[in-house]
Amino acid sequence: MKNPESFADHLLDWFDINKREMPWRETKDPYKIWLSEVMLQQTQVNTVRNYYLRFIERFPTIESLASADEDEVLKNWEGLGYYSRVRNFQTAVREVEATYGSVPGDGEKFLALKGVGPYTRGAVMSIAFNLPYPAVDGNVFRVFSRLDDDATDTAKPAARKHFEEKVMRVIPERAGDFNEALMELGATVCTPRNPICMLCPVNEHCEAFEAGTVLERPVKIKKLKRKELRYKVMLIINDKGELLITKRPKTGLLGGMWQFPMFDEDMAIDDIEEALNMKLADEKEKFHHVTHGFTHLDWLLDVYIARTTDEASGDYRFIGIEEKGDYTFPVSMTKIFDHYQTVK
Ligand code: ADE
Repeated sequence: MKNPESFADHLLDWFDINKREMPWRETKDPYKIWLSEVMLQQTQVNTVRNYYLRFIERFPTIESLASADEDEVLKNWEGLGYYSRVRNFQTAVREVEATYGSVPGDGEKFLALKGVGPYTRGAVMSIAFNLPYPAVDGNVFRVFSRLDDDATDTAKPAARKHFEEKVMRVIPERAGDFNEALMELGATVCTPRNPICMLCPVNEHCEAFEAGTVLERPVKIKKLKRKELRYKVMLIINDKGELLITKRPKTGLLGGMWQFPMFDEDMAIDDIEEALNMKLADEKEKFHHVTHGFTHLDWLLDVYIARTTDEASGDYRFIGIEEKGDYTFPVSMTKIFDHYQTVK
């Protein structure tokens, strides 16, 4: 980058005029900005809007979230996915309330909180407190690899530090606006496949634009195939038409959420009956197939429908379809529910 001051000026001038309206851009409350960043980490802006508004209406302050029931918090996140985000967020907010009283405007203290990594620290410290921290997300990888025509493999863990250093060399006084402007540029102009370089406010600073390598940046060397996990999901209906569900363990993937009973794909029906402590009627029909992608793996779910006259026992319970709203289900289970309701 030859002229960082001029680059930052051009970018900020563009951002001041072109920035999109977002509800979290209307506030300087660090708690709300933090929440928005947690939601935006794996979810698109347009999906986040409504979740964000509903969430801050229900939990408007640190105190309200710290004292809330975990199941209710999870319910307000239902459908957003990556539920460990909200569990960590509530844990961190509880720690903030107990230890500091309000979100600490101190990068070290903030980084030490549960679920807060370098990206979240950079975004919240810069946007809420205007502290000069980098906030390197996928957009920033892309924008800077193009600006400097930099072929660093962005799939490598070391890439983050490399790009953070680039940001720190150019970050201006308006640190928060600058970080948001980089994200905004990446989201609306410097996009992955169809960048509109002709309208880019900083194209005169862009080496990849000059070299004609924009579409070759960033370099991201593909990992091996993602892991696939196959399960049998049992949709078990009793004589009242209720469905059998169970709660996942508190920690780990989708911790604390509810699901239909789920077993290893190789598990025989006899063994499943034993695990459920329940006799299933003879006809067990495979009625649906659902796939769901997580960050590191895909679930391939074969759904079987079966009937029983037994009671639920142990960690299992029957619920009526109208009670679904009282429980938090991951998207994969909601897909099964919805399919069942359309075919039954
Ligand atoms: N993505 C993550 N954080 C963002 C923000 N503050 N504005 C726009 N997009 C974002």
